[in-house]
Amino acid sequence: NWKLTNYIDKTVAEIKEKVGDQKVILGLSGGVDSSVAAVLIHKAIGDQLQCIFVDTGLLRKDEAEKVMTNYGEHFQLKIKLIDAKRRFMSKLEGVADPEEKRKIIGNEFVAVFDEESHKIEGAKFLAQGTIYPDVIESQSVKGPSAVIKSHHNVGGLPEEMDFKLLEPLRELFKDEVRKVGEELGIPHHLVHRHPFPGPGLGIRILGEVSEEKVEILQQADDIFIEELYKNNLYEQVSQAFVVLLPVKSVGVMGDERTYEYTAVVRSANTIDFMTATFSKFPWEFLEKVSNRIINEVRGINRVTYDISSKPPATIEWE
Ligand code: XMP
Repeated sequence: NWKLTNYIDKTVAEIKEKVGDQKVILGLSGGVDSSVAAVLIHKAIGDQLQCIFVDTGLLRKDEAEKVMTNYGEHFQLKIKLIDAKRRFMSKLEGVADPEEKRKIIGNEFVAVFDEESHKIEGAKFLAQGTIYPDVIESQSVKGPSAVIKSHHNVGGLPEEMDFKLLEPLRELFKDEVRKVGEELGIPHHLVHRHPFPGPGLGIRILGEVSEEKVEILQQADDIFIEELYKNNLYEQVSQAFVVLLPVKSVGVMGDERTYEYTAVVRSANTIDFMTATFSKFPWEFLEKVSNRIINEVRGINRVTYDISSKPPATIEWE
């Protein structure tokens, strides 16, 4: 694709010119935008780019390992993996209110990223995977969720940091970012991942978060996503995930009575994420997902499917 190759060559030259022999840091989240930004910048300046990946303990199953393999090994990016699971979990202990959880996770993320970025000596630039819709959004009047969102997104720049910004995707729409990513050699499935919220599983576990609940939810979510891929449904929907409710109910397993959590399978179709409809999957598919979750995940004995549209519901539950 001539236009894309052109865009990449032009941007690579600009990055080289701007950065010179300075160091750049980038908060890698495993999401599409920060990953494409990282690979693009790496193409320009190689090991002058230092990525930071913060494992909050609220990510999808095996996310840290996958990022290290996909980008650390395969693309040879320099990635510092920060295991901050304990920190986040202890701050979240006893907290059930969704807004409070968001604040805690956001603040903790900024604190960890701030500490780590200052350990990297001589770094002059902070790179971010900001894309055109983010630029527009941040110019509009922000509601409380937008303010929080901006704080949460990995790579969010705390005001007090004195780095120069590097945002090579600022002019691109999402579909263009994906194309650039593929042109750079990032596998199709990675550039077509669904969005994942900054506060992660912290808001998909309703009520109090615990390590046990995170593990249960990761397993259930992983099964749903795996089945979506197997059935060629993943790219037919905009965002799909599992939510864990703090509700326990009675079930039977063999000849034993169980008393376990309820999982919600959620999938939305949307163009702009402002309005959305629930995905109309075949019953057989939902049956398969439900059976697998109940049989394979200890701690869940009931699976429901969310048939709410946005508005008045939201895509996430919180
Ligand atoms: P709702 O639940 O408001 O979600 O319908 C709309 C979209 O926004 C995502 N979302 C977030 N993304 N940080 C993010 O980066 C956040 O704090 C956040 N909260 C919600 C949500 O996943 C959906 O795609």
